[in-house]
Amino acid sequence: MATEENSTPAGWVDTHLHLLPGIDDGPATMELAMAMAEVIIGDGISHVVVTPHSNYQFTFDPAQATALRDQMQAQLGNRLTLLTGCELHLSFENVQAVLANPRLYSLNGGRYVLVEFPEFFERNSMQKALEGFCEIGLVPLIAHPERNQVFQQHPPVLDDYLRLGCIAQVTASSFSGRFGKRAQEFSNELLNRECIHVVASDGHSAEQRSPRLSKAHAAIEAAKGAELARILCRDNPWAIACDRKLPYAPEPVAKKKSLWSRLKG
Ligand SMILES: [Fe+2]
Repeated sequence: MATEENSTPAGWVDTHLHLLPGIDDGPATMELAMAMAEVIIGDGISHVVVTPHSNYQFTFDPAQATALRDQMQAQLGNRLTLLTGCELHLSFENVQAVLANPRLYSLNGGRYVLVEFPEFFERNSMQKALEGFCEIGLVPLIAHPERNQVFQQHPPVLDDYLRLGCIAQVTASSFSGRFGKRAQEFSNELLNRECIHVVASDGHSAEQRSPRLSKAHAAIEAAKGAELARILCRDNPWAIACDRKLPYAPEPVAKKKSLWSRLKG
């Protein structure tokens, strides 16, 4: 893309959704994918980064994703701009693949890579993987931490990863309780603690897991004001799509000092 880098997008920007037909658990056919695209346009979204799964169940093929994107873009014209990336499950094989060929897996070929944590994980091994990404100039974008039980039960683990240089993406429908009460509460906690950098739909279909951002935008606007709502739904995701530094990136919370270091200090 890159040609639109200096412009402001006409609508919201979604950096996580499963829109391409027949390659993961998103729409099964081109017809369903196009129906989903109409919902996206109707919701006021102008740009999306499509992120098919790269996990044990679905193999991500960048060339196939690009070809499908091109087919859809030809039908959509300039009503909606599609960029490509993937949602990378943090498996050992995937981490090695990214280290060998980072731009094949990152969002629109830039520095941001959308990472999905296993449901349960060992914090140090994940930290090593994230550090490896940061060392080669990538910025891990943590997908839906509010839905992960480890982060829900141990929020300081997420704080540790944010201090490493990761950023966090919360699913829009988590704010309305689509993924349960705890995920909803944790989304609001993260919002209050300024730990959210991006809101994304993680849409999988036109209606069941819908690709909308407007409802979350309205909820954030009501709770925190129009500026933050615009930043999380447009400005920061646009910077990600354009491979630029985020305009809004609050300092991660400081690590609490241990009793020993407080006694020493
Ligand atoms: Fe997803």
